Amino acid sequence: MSTPPAICRSVESARRMIRDVQQRGGRTGFVPTMGALHAGHLSLVAAARERDEFVAVSIFVNPTQFGPQEDLNRYPRTWDADFAALTEAGAHMIFAPPVEVMYPSYWSTAVEPPRVSATLEGECRPGHFRGVATIVLKLFQIVPADDAFFGEKDYQQCLVIRDMVRDFDLPIEFHACPTVREPDGLAMSSRNRYLDAGQRQRALGLWRGMQAARAQLAAGLRDARQLEQVVVEQLQRAPVDQIEYVAIRDPDTLETLDVVDRPARLLIAARVGATRLIDNCGL
Ligand code: PAJ
Repeated sequence: MSTPPAICRSVESARRMIRDVQQRGGRTGFVPTMGALHAGHLSLVAAARERDEFVAVSIFVNPTQFGPQEDLNRYPRTWDADFAALTEAGAHMIFAPPVEVMYPSYWSTAVEPPRVSATLEGECRPGHFRGVATIVLKLFQIVPADDAFFGEKDYQQCLVIRDMVRDFDLPIEFHACPTVREPDGLAMSSRNRYLDAGQRQRALGLWRGMQAARAQLAAGLRDARQLEQVVVEQLQRAPVDQIEYVAIRDPDTLETLDVVDRPARLLIAARVGATRLIDNCGL
């Protein structure tokens, strides 16, 4: 049985706990989350445990990254299960602030997110990355760890945070970790619990699309638009209810690519029922 993590609800207590470890010469790691934890989140905790002797996890459903028509109010909140999972995973501290601690009534400063935020998710979810960059910068000030861990499941988010850390010279080392999937290929996501059994099956279209694109590329198809069409056909066959984008992009800048003659990233957003799913893979 591992020792349960300490729970911090205030800025001061969280910051002090990290500083104390660092003063003793300990290295600290940080995994920001919105809770409703699954094996994908826990893989980030495991990566942090490998590198750092003290691992902090934040659980905060950040209102500023949700659009007005999005699922903020029904976003799953599963504190007891999250606490048990983080105990089991060996996390040392949970920062779980009330919303007034992160956004007091006088709060008014926000981060202008980097260029890489403009496309894809940035177009479908206006203001989303501004909210993400702002909360992550705040979290990095409150939990001033040595390392921060993010999942490639949210590939564009990784690039946004990576570039913000670079552009603001933040004293934290950014780490991106691979996507954890269900046995059948569906990327783990807190939003998967919105899917009923039939939708859960149809959600596999994203995985099938990525597999089909990889197979066609291996067979010699290099044209990015044609490869995207291969993915679209798989999504339509599933069928998903709406395709928001299927895009083959430069893995570093997310600029459009015409020919896959060097490393590329395939990124997909689609809706199954009311649930918005995203996934991506390297090509
Ligand atoms: P959330 O969706 O809870 O995800 C927290 C972290 O877990 C993110 O870095 C995300 O990429 C990672 N993650 C989610 N599913 C994963 C999977 N299947 N495999 C690997 N990693 C996975 O992303 C957010 O919260 C928020 O935007 C946040 C960064 C906390 C800011 O509010």
